[in-house]
Amino acid sequence: MVKICCIGAGYVGGPTMAVIALKCPEIEVAVVDISEARINAWNSEQLPIYEPGLDGVVKQCRGKNLFFSTDVERHVSEADIVFVSVNTPTKTRGLGAGKAADLTYWESAARMIADVSKSDKIVVEKSTVPVKTAEAIEKILTHNSKGIDFQILSNPEFLAEGTAIQDLLHPDRVLIGGRETPKGQKAIQTLRDVYAHWVTVDQIICTNLWSAELSKLAANAFLAQRISSVNAMSALCEATGADVTQVSHAVGKDTRIGPKFLNASVGFGGSCFQKDILNLVYICECNGLPEVANYWKQVIKVNDYQKNRFVNRVVSSMFNTVSGKKIAILGFAFKKDTGDTRETPAIDVCKGLLGDNAHLSIYDPQVSEDQIQRDLSMKKFDWDHPIHLQPSSPSSLKQVMCVWDAYEATKDAHGICILTEWDEFKTLDYQKIYDNMKKPAFVFDGRNVVNADKLRNIGFIVYSIGKPLDPWLKDMPSIA
Ligand code: NAD
Ligand code: UDX
Repeated sequence: MVKICCIGAGYVGGPTMAVIALKCPEIEVAVVDISEARINAWNSEQLPIYEPGLDGVVKQCRGKNLFFSTDVERHVSEADIVFVSVNTPTKTRGLGAGKAADLTYWESAARMIADVSKSDKIVVEKSTVPVKTAEAIEKILTHNSKGIDFQILSNPEFLAEGTAIQDLLHPDRVLIGGRETPKGQKAIQTLRDVYAHWVTVDQIICTNLWSAELSKLAANAFLAQRISSVNAMSALCEATGADVTQVSHAVGKDTRIGPKFLNASVGFGGSCFQKDILNLVYICECNGLPEVANYWKQVIKVNDYQKNRFVNRVVSSMFNTVSGKKIAILGFAFKKDTGDTRETPAIDVCKGLLGDNAHLSIYDPQVSEDQIQRDLSMKKFDWDHPIHLQPSSPSSLKQVMCVWDAYEATKDAHGICILTEWDEFKTLDYQKIYDNMKKPAFVFDGRNVVNADKLRNIGFIVYSIGKPLDPWLKDMPSIA
């Protein structure tokens, strides 16, 4: 029986291993973590992450061939294949701070693997890492190995949150990189056999280690670049009277471009895009490629511009001040169908509005008040460290209130900012909401989810990203 152990029971480790356990009943899968709270949650009725379909998969396998444990060393030492899916945050200090990947957690996992291993192992990079990380990991493992053979593979994960289970069950591709030696190729074959339980062989791409590592950074950079491209267009649409939805549709009909990932928004968020592009930028700089670095840096600059532009639009529309005004924030997660708030654009928008002294009333169906308060108090990049290292009781911001209902959030508010595209925001009773708001009542739709014409008929002043502007908004002083 093959035994798999995954170090890191997070958004990637948990769902990925649950699906491997589901599809490979003869393989024993242990997911281990240093966070006791997280492991307890995986073993409880309330899983630590919200992901459609995840509960069902975990319930089917947990206790049979899927185990969650804090006994990291035992499970690592017993495993044939060790996946490493720990945090790879952006460095906050020292060389490369604000750009380079912090491999502290990865390195400590590698050292531990070397310490406890008594048999040959395949070590799989599941975390997103800088290109050439495998070389460093190999050195750590082989220098401490006591004669054990370690084969390193790069098997980056392409799942997106909110659709993780579907993405894992029906991946566009699985990528496996390994050494071009007989042992390296044998290791690739072993991992390929695991995925072949449910993924067709032609969807499994095998490459060298560096191509696999770099492909992950490249894929995220290309995806984020599409969003920054459409968001840049959204600013031009507002200035010219074009409609970004129509432009995206027309552009996306070109089969060479394709229709996906062209939705203009308040900006992209999530734990990956910014971190991975910064990492790519750093690697380009380190390799003496400043022009390439600047090219990718621009994707992040446009994303920051889009978030600032949104805040400026809100403030300038409301007579150039939101001081003391109640603003309802609908949606805080970085996208719908997840409770994840890492790098959510809502953080920057809320901080921008708080900077102008607004009072915020926030509603998100999946995000707790504690999480929101923590996000709004935390310093940039501090979020991506193991949860037990994060401040547990953040000091509450007085101007921020969190409620569990969109109607409560919007009561007596001057304006509404829609920051996540939750389906329920499309079907709210906006007449009721309008009746209970201060007038003039504003809606700033950062995700283009509401029917703006319908809302205008009710009496709202509506701003939709990249759409022709309301006469009211046109008359307001121009924004940055
Ligand atoms: P996460 O923070 O949800 O999970 C990481 C887990 O690793 C944490 O629970 C932490 O406690 C644990 N951990 C850290 N050091 C450890 C150690 N030494 N021993 C045991 N456990 C340890 O992170 P995530 O979102 O699952 O991301 C993990 C990696 O996968 C990152 O490199 C990320 O870039 C990449 N990735 C993430 C996504 C995504 O959608 N979240 C998608 C693809 C790739
Ligand atoms: C991303 C990649 O899609 C995934 O392949 C990788 O493994 C991890 O990073 P994720 O961050 O979970 O996944 O979600 P994704 O669907 O990519 O959305 C990222 C952000 O972009 C969200 O804030 C989303 O709202 C935004 N977005 C997405 C847009 O603003 N417009 C779009 O058209 C698509």
